[in-house]
Amino acid sequence: MKAAVLREAKKPLVIEEVSIEDPGPGQVLVKTAASGVCHSDLHFMEGSWPVPTPAILGHEASGVVEKLGEGVKYVKPGDHVVMLFTPFCGVCRFCTTGRPNLCGEGRAMTPTLKIGDRAVAPFLSMSSFAEYMVVPEGGVVKIRDDVPMNVAALVGCSVMTGVGAAINTAKVEPGASCAVIGTGGVGLNVIQGCDLAGAEKIIAIDINTNKLEMAREFGATHVIDASKEDPVAKVQELTGGLGADYAFEVIGLPSAITQAFNMVRRGGEAVVVGMAPIGSEASISAPSFLAEKVLRGCVYGSTRPRYDMPRILDLYMAGKLKLDELVSRTYPIEGINDAFDAMKNGEVARSVIVFD
Ligand code: APR
Ligand code: ZN
Ligand code: ZN
Repeated sequence: MKAAVLREAKKPLVIEEVSIEDPGPGQVLVKTAASGVCHSDLHFMEGSWPVPTPAILGHEASGVVEKLGEGVKYVKPGDHVVMLFTPFCGVCRFCTTGRPNLCGEGRAMTPTLKIGDRAVAPFLSMSSFAEYMVVPEGGVVKIRDDVPMNVAALVGCSVMTGVGAAINTAKVEPGASCAVIGTGGVGLNVIQGCDLAGAEKIIAIDINTNKLEMAREFGATHVIDASKEDPVAKVQELTGGLGADYAFEVIGLPSAITQAFNMVRRGGEAVVVGMAPIGSEASISAPSFLAEKVLRGCVYGSTRPRYDMPRILDLYMAGKLKLDELVSRTYPIEGINDAFDAMKNGEVARSVIVFD
């Protein structure tokens, strides 16, 4: 099959013929339909997060089940599915206490791909920049089949992460004031999650005016260009001097984590969604904890995947979430490096690689 291969960090991906094994016990072979291009892939391409090379990246995907390994019961061939970058095992402490996004046991680390003569484990349990994926049963979510596959793919990362950060992690209440720092593919979904939850004020913060325009379309009531004004002072001004009820960091930038914490009111909550570089640290004003401020981590929008992902798609079908608008461009796999350039240049909400 065809795949985009990362041969070496900081180099463009190379389209190559690679091979994939049949699914083993508890695994599923999925024909990839679409795969979003996420900033997290770029972190691995650029080396701010490590990945052994050669590797096939991609972790925001939809597809159609083609073949089942022994013992798989949840899906059947022909089912439309979204892949999970944190597959769950169903029996560990986290899975059994309603936090399957924190499960560390469900990952498929067995090599199922062969690049040249090298056996390679799938990246984040999927490696979706390829025509086929072998994934664990706990790494798929069955979805309704009347949803376009490029839209469904985005639910696998950016939509779930962003909308989930607002409605699951922070549990934003109607009337709340929310600030969102970084309004890319994930941040726009935090904005629409806050809107869905009934937030009254949604303040979008970015350094790219193109992104701030998109933010308004997704529900931002105010925008701040952080390249021109101090976002902390401006958020305070927009919230009557108090600070926001919630702030979300959606870049992966330690200084923005500090800003998020500083822009929430007494008793407010800053949620860190972005993936900061390995080894980085964020500076927090320690006395601020006397104001009962909360600094909260977030992964995958605190998702309970088989509950949240179908309901997100139902909300989309009911016209309550904008997902079509997230797909700024589609590319064939051969255009993948152009898709990464478009993201780096801030031209798109999301690009999606589509397979035929
Ligand atoms: N202040 C405000 N906004 C910024 C700043 C800054 N200093 N630096 C960058 N940005 C904005 C960019 O202009 C862009 O709009 O952050 C946004 C990031 O968006 P994308 O590149 O589309 O990234 P996305 O895929 O949304 O991921 C964001 O979440 O899952 C993680 O790994 C991912 O850390 C990344 C973050
Ligand atoms: Zn992602
Ligand atoms: Zn588990």
